[in-house]
Amino acid sequence: MSILPIYLFGTEVLKKKAKPVETLDDSTVKLIFDMFETMHKANGIGLAANQVGDLRRVITIDISDVTEPNAEGEMEDSAHPTSPDLPRTLALINPEIVNEEGAWSMEEGCLSLPGVRGAVERAEKVRIRFRDSEFKKQELFMDGFLARVVLHEFDHLNGVLFVDRVNKAKRSMLLPKLRKIRKGELDPDYPVVTAAKV
Ligand code: NI
Repeated sequence: MSILPIYLFGTEVLKKKAKPVETLDDSTVKLIFDMFETMHKANGIGLAANQVGDLRRVITIDISDVTEPNAEGEMEDSAHPTSPDLPRTLALINPEIVNEEGAWSMEEGCLSLPGVRGAVERAEKVRIRFRDSEFKKQELFMDGFLARVVLHEFDHLNGVLFVDRVNKAKRSMLLPKLRKIRKGELDPDYPVVTAAKV
């Protein structure tokens, strides 16, 4: 396994639409392992392949260490727990949203946007069709924090970042930070690729 550098805001690959995986070959299996290792190394809870510079429709998630609501009180609405029977660690290949229901807002962050946070409204409940890490077809109803993380990562596969979904006033407040990230003027404690140095 290898730790891959994470592409930061401003790099082209984050704006691209990823392509479906046709077969689960060795290279895709390796990508999934590497994404888990990369995500854990960076203390992330979700990662999309675009973020490691790869345009395959692959997402990794691990929310097993997340307490809901979290210690900083950033979870503004504790009435959205993830159902206890749902997996906390999973890989999703070629995810598709079958349907969405409800809406709630919560502050999000992203490994491609270190130090940036903003409230995003997303569906409360979602039904996702995907292939699992053995390429078996799955359909799973998800809610709470898990649904939010999956929707955030799903956005990445379509070239959409959470800052594209925050309201205009907040986005303009975030601009100086976004500019800094684009210029490579920051130093997160994990390996990165910046727009200034692709
Ligand atoms: Ni993200």
